[in-house]
Amino acid sequence: MNIGNVKLATPFVVAPMAGMTDTAFRRLVKRQGGCGLVVTEMVSSEGLVRGIDRTLEYAEYTEEERPVSIQIFGGDPEKMAAAAQIVEGMGADIVDINMGCPVHKIAKHSAGCSLMKQPEHAAKVVAAMARAVKIPVTVKMRAGWNDRSRNAAELARMVEGAGAAAVTIHGRTAEQSYSGSADWDLVSEVASQLRIPVFGSGDCVEPEQVVERLRASGSAAGVSGVLVGRGVLRNPWILAQAADIAAGRPPRHVTLQERGQFLLDYIDMLLHERIDEREGFRHRAPGTADDGPARGHDRWVINKIRALCSWYSKGLDGGSQLRVRINTAVSISELRDIIGAFFFAPVVA
Ligand SMILES: Cc1cc2nc3c(=O)[nH]c(=O)nc-3n(C[C@H](O)[C@H](O)[C@H](O)COP(=O)(O)O)c2cc1C
Repeated sequence: MNIGNVKLATPFVVAPMAGMTDTAFRRLVKRQGGCGLVVTEMVSSEGLVRGIDRTLEYAEYTEEERPVSIQIFGGDPEKMAAAAQIVEGMGADIVDINMGCPVHKIAKHSAGCSLMKQPEHAAKVVAAMARAVKIPVTVKMRAGWNDRSRNAAELARMVEGAGAAAVTIHGRTAEQSYSGSADWDLVSEVASQLRIPVFGSGDCVEPEQVVERLRASGSAAGVSGVLVGRGVLRNPWILAQAADIAAGRPPRHVTLQERGQFLLDYIDMLLHERIDEREGFRHRAPGTADDGPARGHDRWVINKIRALCSWYSKGLDGGSQLRVRINTAVSISELRDIIGAFFFAPVVA
């Protein structure tokens, strides 16, 4: 399938997740297969326009991840258009607009999901961006702001008219945040009303569910693809397994060792690839031992692994003990030892 002129090898997409879907994580997921598109964490349009280092880091990606969509947030049409041009200049394949974030810090500035409360203004943002760039402009929204205003269908039609090349609906309202369940009937209803591709998002934690969501609405009016968020954090192989099932193959089996190796690879990539000169961080030579309490960059890596493991450990035998141990690790070497003992230790009869 295509978004504008961008070809997706599969309809399965890594959903944008702030703090989680950094370039290293996206690359590792992509390497497992089955992934048609990755979306970055949301990036501030204001930060892009001002050239703030930290913001530019969030937008970093590698060639291996292509096709890649950079998601930006903001509410000012001119700034969003300027930010879209920066994203295009960075070589991204797609620029996505966040119209789903319910967090007050974002939503209070007419950005994120509060754009859903101002559909005409939201359409102006899309139109300004679509005029400013050649790459496809896409929109990710929720069902609406609250149950009294479930206006995804109306807004989706408006942004299509304003030049959006695809739309994703997370079938919850901003007020719901993550409670209740995603309304996939609404997603299908929106898909039936639009000519551009419509993607659905929400509550796919098993590969069978991902494929089922695609098939359930697999008619001409169905969704074109599925974004998987928390399911990828629990199981980075979920898109590969969904692609297996969609192709009529049994979903690949993932061993405990492979799960452990994923975490070790992620640690290595986070440690050795990121440079933050402002805080004096530097590339550390591979293999450098560090047994002391973590500082600076190491602490950041430990916090990233803790955040991932709060999802990754779910469903694993002994997952809650793993979570507790990871949360008490104070150095990278301790983190590696904990992972080694959990995922690679020979089973004692
Ligand atoms: C930790 C976390 C961070 C998220 N950050 C973003 C974000 O930056 N932009 C966005 O559009 N959606 C974000 N989302 C929403 C997801 O993209 C997705 O739509 C939602 O989690 C529902 O899908 P799921 O049930 O597959 O997780 C985030 C979700 C989570 C759990």
